[in-house]
Amino acid sequence: MEYLVLPLHKHLEYLQDSCNLINNEWKRSDTARLRSLEASCDQLPTSLILLRDKKLIGYLKLSPIPSIKDGCFVESVVIEKNERGKGYGSILMKKAEDYCRNNLSNLNVIYLSTKGQEGFYTKLGYTECMPISIYGCLDSSLKNHINTYSENDNGSKVCITKNVPAAPPMPRIHFNTSLASSKKYMKKEL
Ligand code: ACO
Repeated sequence: MEYLVLPLHKHLEYLQDSCNLINNEWKRSDTARLRSLEASCDQLPTSLILLRDKKLIGYLKLSPIPSIKDGCFVESVVIEKNERGKGYGSILMKKAEDYCRNNLSNLNVIYLSTKGQEGFYTKLGYTECMPISIYGCLDSSLKNHINTYSENDNGSKVCITKNVPAAPPMPRIHFNTSLASSKKYMKKEL
């Protein structure tokens, strides 16, 4: 069998199949999904597809992180439902890492967030990290937190999440920070 991981924008014949695969997992209108898929390019964002014998069985997207220039954010990782548990997710992730190393200069770290698939990413060498925002410095899901960035020992940027000083408390309302985001953020150095 032949496995290929290819950039979607160079193989637009797989556009609709990609749309169907992702929408089977995370429902969204085809129009919105296709518009997002059509944004794939040589620089980020880049959609990568996994083909087995020319059939699409996997997809992921690499997105830029405006505040972390040497990092990218992998999202929407999905394997065709009938093909899960056969190692294809691992193949896709490893080939995506190779793609980053070989095609995206100055990229040193891959970040992601997940809710429930931590075990899969841990097996691939990802470790939990502080939350990052791919939209800017403030993650809207972290209502009580503010993110600032500093450099760690090896020069890559890290996000430090701090509690914002509390506003005057409202009676009988208790904000549980564990509910603010049950997503786990993970990262891997390339
Ligand atoms: N928890 C713990 N271990 C796991 C999990 C999990 N949720 N999922 C897979 N594994 C393990 C497997 O048992 C396997 O272990 P082994 O090497 O010891 O045999 C190893 O991870 C590799 O598994 P694969 O077979 O390569 O994984 P698969 O092809 O099933 O792909 C994926 C995993 C992509 C998560 C798939 O199950 C899927 O599409 N899920 C639905 C969509 C989804 O949740 N995507 C992730 C969203 S998070 C994000 O996009 C950053």
